[in-house]
Amino acid sequence: MPHTQTHYDVIVVGAGPAGYISAIRCAQLGFKTVCIDNGHNKKGQRSLGGAHLNAGCIASIALLESSKIYYLLTHAINEHGIFADNISLDIGQAVARKDQIIETFEGKITDLFIHHGIEYIHAKAKLLNARQVEVISHDCPAPFVLEGKHIILATGSSPTGLACAPIDGEFIIDTAIALNLNAVPDTLAIIGGGVMGLELGGIWNRFGAKTILLEAQDRFLSLADHDIARAAYQIYSDQGIDIRLGARVISAKVHNNKVTLRYQDQHGTHSLSVDKLIVASGRKPNTENLAAPEANLLLDENGFVHVDENCRTNLPGVYAIGDLTVLGPMLAHKGIEEGLFVAEQITGMHNLINYDALPSVIYTDPEIAWVGQTEQALRAIGEPIKVGIFPLTANLRAQAEGQQHTESMVKIIAHAETDTILGVHIMGTHASEILAEAVLAMEFSASSEDLAQTIHAHPTFSETLHEAALALKNRALHLPL
Ligand code: NAI
Repeated sequence: MPHTQTHYDVIVVGAGPAGYISAIRCAQLGFKTVCIDNGHNKKGQRSLGGAHLNAGCIASIALLESSKIYYLLTHAINEHGIFADNISLDIGQAVARKDQIIETFEGKITDLFIHHGIEYIHAKAKLLNARQVEVISHDCPAPFVLEGKHIILATGSSPTGLACAPIDGEFIIDTAIALNLNAVPDTLAIIGGGVMGLELGGIWNRFGAKTILLEAQDRFLSLADHDIARAAYQIYSDQGIDIRLGARVISAKVHNNKVTLRYQDQHGTHSLSVDKLIVASGRKPNTENLAAPEANLLLDENGFVHVDENCRTNLPGVYAIGDLTVLGPMLAHKGIEEGLFVAEQITGMHNLINYDALPSVIYTDPEIAWVGQTEQALRAIGEPIKVGIFPLTANLRAQAEGQQHTESMVKIIAHAETDTILGVHIMGTHASEILAEAVLAMEFSASSEDLAQTIHAHPTFSETLHEAALALKNRALHLPL
């Protein structure tokens, strides 16, 4: 396809959540916008949406849902007076359903691009300088150059991998392949008890794989509030995940269709044999070959694009958003917000991103969700705080729906003098949805009393936030004094 148009107001490189949303906002603001992305789906077809859609949260949540239904039917349905015999699992069908969801949403992004007049080029892009991008297209015999008044880099991240456990795609697999297994392994080990490890561990454990999670750090979910991490550890262990902490994997080898891995902990070196090994040891920014050396795009020592607080790189008119920068954690909604922010900044609007009110969610069952600071971080800086905790088991809606864990909770931390909410941490069913109200409260610098005085529909899960705010002042209605 010969490319006639070569000059644009905005060139967006990458069509993950950060990039495609930024492109849409640019188009809404009247900019002639092109979005270049070289992503493809597992059939090898061009695909918008990035890793988040194709091999991340959306794919993971789709499979999680299937695993929850399977687990319910095989473990907990009888208490409802429902007896389902001969339940069988066709994992291929569950994966096909997940693929269909991805395909449908990918089609919607394509439609949105068409409706907004955004040009989409399926190609690899390389930044040549502050104004030019080289495009290496699969549809074009020779590379060509596009010019943009503004360039937004949004190429995302990919799994880091581990030299001690090289991916072979069949027995030692990365997090993307782990969402496409065609059979449930009898035994499964996962390197990394981070977000990906927990999400994938929960899915395959529920489908019936004996799952062992190996985490190098001594503390489980060290970034989370310690009460929540303790509760999560208990709940996941009760579900059957064998969590081994302080366990650093040092080698993994495939022999006779099995993976033999060795790990070290405080007791010495151990060996383990499993059918599959998932490497979920972190992600790195996709900055390799993103810019020609003569472009002089400044990266930090870990390969992240250096940006200021406005997502501006060292090159005038060139921005970086999403997983490419260290401005915030690698979260889709962080990238989305930065995508909107940069598009509006180009028009001269000066909004600010409130990284302090950035929600984090781990999509397990039950979910973990939080916003703001942890109790341990606030205590470490000597901040005077008060804490309110409300267990989900004391909530009527949660009781009626069943399947609640005694450790599930909503925890609110507020400043002891001003009562301003400083952090909200949730472990339990619908945690991500309950959290939305807490994020809004923090965005408006609300006090815990504001939440306590807000009417919540009864019976709903959202009342747990209300009750936690009341608990902070020893006024919880469904707890003993
Ligand atoms: P992560 O950094 O969250 O966790 C990786 C874990 O692997 C670490 O705890 C590390 O100690 C451990 N590890 C590394 N080498 C090891 C070894 N040799 N032996 C044992 N353990 C080892 O990385 P993850 O889970 O891959 O996620 C990457 C990023 O993507 C994160 O920033 C995460 O927030 C984001 N993400 C967010 C999601 C969400 O919002 N729900 C979903 C998926 C990813």
